[in-house]
Amino acid sequence: MLSPFVTHVEIIPVSAFSGVIAQCHFSVADYQDDLFALAGYYFPEHLASAVAKRRAEYLAGRFLARQVLASFGHQNFILLRGEDRAPIWPNGIAGAISHNLDTALCAAQFDHGTTGVGIDVETQMPPKRAEELWSGIVDDAECLWLRQQPQSFNLLLTLVFSAKESLFKALYPQVRCYFDFLDARIVALDMQQCTFELELKKTLTLCYQAGQCFTGRFWQKGDNVTTLIHF
Ligand SMILES: CC(C)(COP(=O)(O)OP(=O)(O)OC[C@H]1O[C@@H](n2cnc3c(N)ncnc32)[C@H](O)[C@@H]1OP(=O)(O)O)[C@@H](O)C(=O)NCCC(=O)NCCS
Repeated sequence: MLSPFVTHVEIIPVSAFSGVIAQCHFSVADYQDDLFALAGYYFPEHLASAVAKRRAEYLAGRFLARQVLASFGHQNFILLRGEDRAPIWPNGIAGAISHNLDTALCAAQFDHGTTGVGIDVETQMPPKRAEELWSGIVDDAECLWLRQQPQSFNLLLTLVFSAKESLFKALYPQVRCYFDFLDARIVALDMQQCTFELELKKTLTLCYQAGQCFTGRFWQKGDNVTTLIHF
């Protein structure tokens, strides 16, 4: 329907995830504002001064959310954005959206009260960028541990960055407070099973306390690193 702006729409199966993950490719060069109406959305006011890339990624995410939510019985749902920029999911659904240069993803599952879903796609950062950015993403101990692994530091840092953003998106709808990259740490990474574990270093609420661990999955395709956390 939105082709050639949106192409390669696919459902990504992930074992042990009972929800739905949809992914697409989007082309900023093929983006036009009229596509919002075609997708069944009003053009949002908050995008009025946004550049084409931001408009395009927002629409691609909303397009996917519509497909995903329809599979849970929410036909033609208009996914609005809250004051805090978090999407306002329908009652009974937990979900998350992510986009990078040309890929968008939406994941959602039924919410049983304390369900969380976080998804994040990142383009692998180059080695120089990893050296510039690491101290904002991991602490000294995590950094040392990552450097001791056989894989390249920039790949692993990208993965941990993405994992922490997934954790933020999964927890934010329940904790409703900002927490930083250094408020969680990577405690396990299995490159064969494609799983990781993050531990909260800070207590966020009574339900989410320091020491609590969250497992996630990741997958790589080309330069893209995608992480998923659900609980
Ligand atoms: C919110 C944040 C996680 C988004 O990640 P990003 O890599 O910049 O961008 P992505 O494309 O992956 O995700 C953007 C989407 O996140 C969602 N999002 C924004 N704020 C959110 C929030 N507070 N809670 C949940 N989801 C949020 C939106 O759907 C947004 O897309 P949209 O505006 O098109 O709907 C990031 O900008 C941020 O603020 N990070 C700092 C907090 C953090 O990650 N701490 C780590 C704790 S261990």
